[in-house]
Amino acid sequence: MSARETIGALVLAAGKGTRMHSDKPKVLQELLGAPMLRYVYTALDPLFGEGIWTVIGHKSEMIEQAFADEDRNFILQTEQLGTGHALQTAWNELVESGVSHVLVINGDTPLLPQPRLINFLKECLAGHADIGFMTLTLPQPGSFGRVVRHLGDVAAIIEAKDYDESLHGPEPREINAGIYLLDVASVTPLLERLTNENNSGEYYITDLVGFAVEEQMSVIGVDCGNDPHLLGINNPAELVRSESLLRANLVMEWLEQGVTIHAPEYVRVGPMVTLEPGAVLHGPCEIYGNSHVARGAEIYSNTWIKDSNLAEGCVIHPFSHLDGATVGKDCVAGPYARLRPGAVMKQGSKVGNFVEMKKSVLGEGSKANHFTYLGDAEVGTDVNIGAGTITCNYDGVNKHKTTIEDNAFIGSNTSLVAPVCVGKNSLVGAGSVITKNIPENAVAVARSKQKNLPKKC
Ligand code: UD1
Ligand code: CA
Repeated sequence: MSARETIGALVLAAGKGTRMHSDKPKVLQELLGAPMLRYVYTALDPLFGEGIWTVIGHKSEMIEQAFADEDRNFILQTEQLGTGHALQTAWNELVESGVSHVLVINGDTPLLPQPRLINFLKECLAGHADIGFMTLTLPQPGSFGRVVRHLGDVAAIIEAKDYDESLHGPEPREINAGIYLLDVASVTPLLERLTNENNSGEYYITDLVGFAVEEQMSVIGVDCGNDPHLLGINNPAELVRSESLLRANLVMEWLEQGVTIHAPEYVRVGPMVTLEPGAVLHGPCEIYGNSHVARGAEIYSNTWIKDSNLAEGCVIHPFSHLDGATVGKDCVAGPYARLRPGAVMKQGSKVGNFVEMKKSVLGEGSKANHFTYLGDAEVGTDVNIGAGTITCNYDGVNKHKTTIEDNAFIGSNTSLVAPVCVGKNSLVGAGSVITKNIPENAVAVARSKQKNLPKKC
């Protein structure tokens, strides 16, 4: 779009979101594990690049923190006096950036589909609109701003709290979606006319529409039917409604791309997750964050995965929990495996039921099949870790490392008190408490000897 150089985008995200009843600002409320604002940026970034500004205010530091790794232009609205005031607060910076138009989007409308946005921009620019905005027609206009038309032409947007049938006519079902394209030169003189003389005591961005009509400017209300993706989120019920819609869309897209998803209605896949065609998921399961699942990997039901990388051919059995884990080719984990951040399973390794790994590497072909904790451990290749083995990595103050070299065999119910190293090919007798390094090719037994005494009758 040639207009790319001249359109800036402004996200309104300073509001409190009182109706969410949460300590987090509304735009940080999550859908499928990602904050609302993330979705808005995903839609805007490819079109506007660096030309995106965000008005923040309520708990602004939390928003800055959430996007600290990104170069975002934040503008502070110290008092949240309404959407019109948010626009006034940002306006000079936008004007100074040299843009000819500003796309304004409410930060609580995260599902805006990009094609719809592109068509909207085209339509407004082609119609030389001074103000363009998206409208929806709903069975119930609810708390949305009502679009008043005279003989088909937009006359004004009247907020729900201010709508008076005796003044404005029969209540319309057409509402304002909260996405606007503003011509900078046309809107600049209108901004100072905004007042807070209304039933909310707020400065409304929507009053600009009535002013523009009075000035005989070109105002276009772009009819977007009843597209549920354009509905703003104001309370928990609306949040989960949008999340359900998003979930179904994402799962359908992955199915279409060749991922096999059994019981798809119970599968939740976050927006940043990547799945290769040929991966197999069994619902119910959840995959979030920056996870990747390669072709041929199979994830069984009741599994929760975040920020994890699953290589080709691996199998995750039911009820496993993976967070920040790397699972190599042809590995098997679970049922009931727990892989915490820094857990790395190398090719062909196995962890079985009730095995927990944290910041540990399990070498190629190695196995820890039952009831084990591996924390801060480095395990070589073809090691067998017996049932109930524990790396005692924490002395109450510091964490220490356990090293288990290639081909070692750790007998069941062993405690390895770190820092400690089990040498190559060595064997540890069951029930041992190992506190000293074991050399290569040794047998270590560290437990009291069995005594068989005569039974007293
Ligand atoms: C707004 C519109 C309404 C429209 C609806 C669509 C106004 C006055 N009304 O109502 O016509 O139908 O969106 O979803 O605009 N914000 C700020 N600073 C403020 C106040 C709000 O940045 O001082 C931000 C909020 O964080 C939010 C957005 O503006 O992301 C919209 O505010 P909200 O209070 O949700 O407006 P609605 O009542 O939904
Ligand atoms: Ca809203």
